[in-house]
Amino acid sequence: MAERRKAVRENVEGPFFVDTTCIDCDTCRQLAPATFGETGEFSFVRSQPRDAAQQRAALQALVACPTGSIGASDKSAIPAAVRDFPLPVAPRVYYCGFNSPKSFGGNSYFVEHPAGNWLIDSPRFVEHLARRFAEMGGLRYIFLTHRDDVADAAKYAARFGAARIIHRHELASQPDAEHVVEGSEAVHVAPGFLAIPTPGHTRGHCVLLHREFLFSGDHIWWSRARGRLSASRDVCWYNWPLQVQSVELLRNYDFEWVLPGHGERAHFHAVEMRSQMQRLAAALAAPSQ
Ligand SMILES: [Fe+2]
Repeated sequence: MAERRKAVRENVEGPFFVDTTCIDCDTCRQLAPATFGETGEFSFVRSQPRDAAQQRAALQALVACPTGSIGASDKSAIPAAVRDFPLPVAPRVYYCGFNSPKSFGGNSYFVEHPAGNWLIDSPRFVEHLARRFAEMGGLRYIFLTHRDDVADAAKYAARFGAARIIHRHELASQPDAEHVVEGSEAVHVAPGFLAIPTPGHTRGHCVLLHREFLFSGDHIWWSRARGRLSASRDVCWYNWPLQVQSVELLRNYDFEWVLPGHGERAHFHAVEMRSQMQRLAAALAAPSQ
């Protein structure tokens, strides 16, 4: 629970505040950009919510914050914000919220599917989400893009008897995963769900392509600051030239959404997404990258 006495200095006065337990993961700025900004070290309240929509978005950020670093004077509306999750992103695709500190606040997603529902990376284990997943038909598969974002996957797998899917080279983070992706070739892990190895950020990083949705883990994301798709050498833990190659590889696929672990989501028509991928590849090939 956030504490006023630890409040970040830059917060503007008012009911919402961020305290210095913040890990600057960007979750609140993605959910409520009108309210939260970045000091360079922490998130902070740059403008108090001005209407009901901004107020609800700020409360959703409070709920999703992995470190409980957002405080609000009036807590009466928090239960309603909890009930908003998982938040619809597109038909049958949801953002789970309840980001976990174990994954540095990584985003996770839920996909409703007639052959069994999917979780892509893992949120904190919270009873509310488990109950909602159960109401929506349970969980059959948990796809883990890479070792950093497994969070409470084992608890969700145990609750629902779901199969966790992860690449061999990430297995140390989830040693008892039920399904292991091998090698460097794209493979259908279930009909309509293609795991594409994208080594670079980590050795066994994989993205998941389902219809027009690319669940991109920490391989690529939309950057607000750059106004384009992005990947970063600064958060590449394994092999940067390989990550650049993996971006090139993705240009062989059509998709309309990029749904990342960290960073903003992107949504374009497939033709425009192809040119966005081209821009990214050109940027990564530039000497400054
Ligand atoms: Fe990562």
